[in-house]
Amino acid sequence: MKNKLLAANWKSNKTKFEAKDWLVEISNYEIPTGIEVIIFPPFTLLDIISGYVRVNSMPFKIGAQDISPFDSGAFTGEISARQIKEFASHVLIGHSERRNNFLENADMIAKKVDKALSEGLTPIVCVSSLEQANNLKSDKIIFAYEPIGAIGTGKPEDSSSVEKIARQIKKTNNHRVIYGGSVNAQNIKNYLDLSSIDGALVGGDSLDSKSFANIIQNAI
Ligand code: PGA
Repeated sequence: MKNKLLAANWKSNKTKFEAKDWLVEISNYEIPTGIEVIIFPPFTLLDIISGYVRVNSMPFKIGAQDISPFDSGAFTGEISARQIKEFASHVLIGHSERRNNFLENADMIAKKVDKALSEGLTPIVCVSSLEQANNLKSDKIIFAYEPIGAIGTGKPEDSSSVEKIARQIKKTNNHRVIYGGSVNAQNIKNYLDLSSIDGALVGGDSLDSKSFANIIQNAI
């Protein structure tokens, strides 16, 4: 059986010092066998976090929260797949906050997925419906099913409807599917116990090291 993924999406949060404190605090906890942790810091922290994790042999993978739809070149403000690859193995694509605030559409998301795959990065594509998942075919993609109303609201989606959609996403393309939306230490097991769910994407409750460590401990 594959490991369960627990992904920490820090969004637009944390300075260097705050990130370092988080890492120091979380290193007091064991990561249980069968759990794979991926940290998604903002771009400004990718270097410091990946360096710290490597030097201290911490069992964490690193991901970026976004990626340019272009190659390296004259694209002011963008970070290309080649640049991300220096620090990270994974990349979040199409988070609903990007779809809504930055008008990312299916075409843009498909371009970003192509760029990630071309550099060997694993894309975690966030979707809030089956349709959003259906036009992306590569079996290297991991999908994060995140119903809009569950993100950052403290109102997690009912686990039976998560299972239903995740099963349908898997049926069409056999991808790994994780759930995101108000995941916390109390409800993590409800989702990880679902047969079609391979992990969780955690926003708010990943910011505090102790809350995230509790999620990790309760995942088994
Ligand atoms: P949340 O965020 O855990 O704060 O709901 C999840 C996400 O946006 O990935």
